[in-house]
Amino acid sequence: MNSNSSIELMLKENAEFIVQQGKGILAADESPSSIVKRFNSIGVENTTEQRRIYRQLLFTTPDIQQYISGVIMHEETFNQTNDSSVPFPMMLSQIGILPGIKLDRGLESLTINTNETTTLGFDDLEKRCEDFFNRGARFAKWRCVLRINKLKNQPTDVAIAHNAIILARYASVCQAKGLVPIIEPEVIPDGDHDINVCQYVTEKVLAATFKALSDYDIYLEGCLLKPNMVTSGQEAKKRVKSTDIGERKFENKTNYLRNVFCLFIILALATITTLSRTCPPALAGIVFLSGGQSEEDATINLNEMNKTLYRFKRPWPLTFSYGRALQASALKAWSGKRENEFNAQQSCLKRAAANAAAAKGEYDGKQISNEAKKNLHVAEHNY
Ligand code: 13P
Repeated sequence: MNSNSSIELMLKENAEFIVQQGKGILAADESPSSIVKRFNSIGVENTTEQRRIYRQLLFTTPDIQQYISGVIMHEETFNQTNDSSVPFPMMLSQIGILPGIKLDRGLESLTINTNETTTLGFDDLEKRCEDFFNRGARFAKWRCVLRINKLKNQPTDVAIAHNAIILARYASVCQAKGLVPIIEPEVIPDGDHDINVCQYVTEKVLAATFKALSDYDIYLEGCLLKPNMVTSGQEAKKRVKSTDIGERKFENKTNYLRNVFCLFIILALATITTLSRTCPPALAGIVFLSGGQSEEDATINLNEMNKTLYRFKRPWPLTFSYGRALQASALKAWSGKRENEFNAQQSCLKRAAANAAAAKGEYDGKQISNEAKKNLHVAEHNY
């Protein structure tokens, strides 16, 4: 792409707006079929109107724009309005939040005998990008899923290469139509693997993804990555916790590091190391998914990575694009009742504020509640 084009300037400005200091993304893009589990858990019927009421509650949380710079919506939500008939994208723009659209249309088997997947959504993609842009969208999301299975040697090279290419192709269409692409190659936490396996696989997946982005001439300054954090598998015998501390010998690495720090949070360093080995500095920013971690763990982990200790390894802003970890307490507090809306909004604001602080490495842990400590993992989670 011509580096002076006005479209590039817009992509860069919007990407930088999203990852501005102390803000992040609310991922509210669950499809009508994937939100059913969450509604079931609070006894709410999964109707179009209930979904509209719930999204309206989230988007009208007083002062939410202090902490949230962008909201990802499913097509259904993007087309809905608030009680006063103002379309949600317009309502969000009016309070200074960029509207985003989920463009992928879910997963499909990649080959006959495995559970590896490709992601659907290329039919009429150009037209949809144009249409959503004209109606206010300024960024988009596309999720690919990679599964770890040591016995089957998964993810296979085929799955890694295929998903890297489709992410790059989607990004190319988005950028041509003025939408900042969020690239989401999620290595899901299902499985009993340890954290080192997750790190190894995530590095391979991200390296392949950035090679494909280069092959497709993606403008990285106008692009965001949405990765998983590097964690142990959900069924691992001994899971690394967000506060587990390890020792690392930094001697002989660089003079700068010698004898400076040798204690670190294992999970934060594994994630930062993975990103530093694979993501070019030109990338506008990194917006993590929460991946079934508890609300509190997702906040603590983001906070750790934003502390000074890890700064030497990361040139990009690191913030959040959480779904479950921003909504779980709010959803519970709401439970489908209008009279609970105020409390639900306060829960939503609390998590948004906690994550905004974590994006600056300034989270003090005071927002903790029992609800926020609950593991939010769902096996084979769909969006
Ligand atoms: P979670 O934060 O719930 O993992 O979801 C974020 C997301 O957008 C997944 O596509």
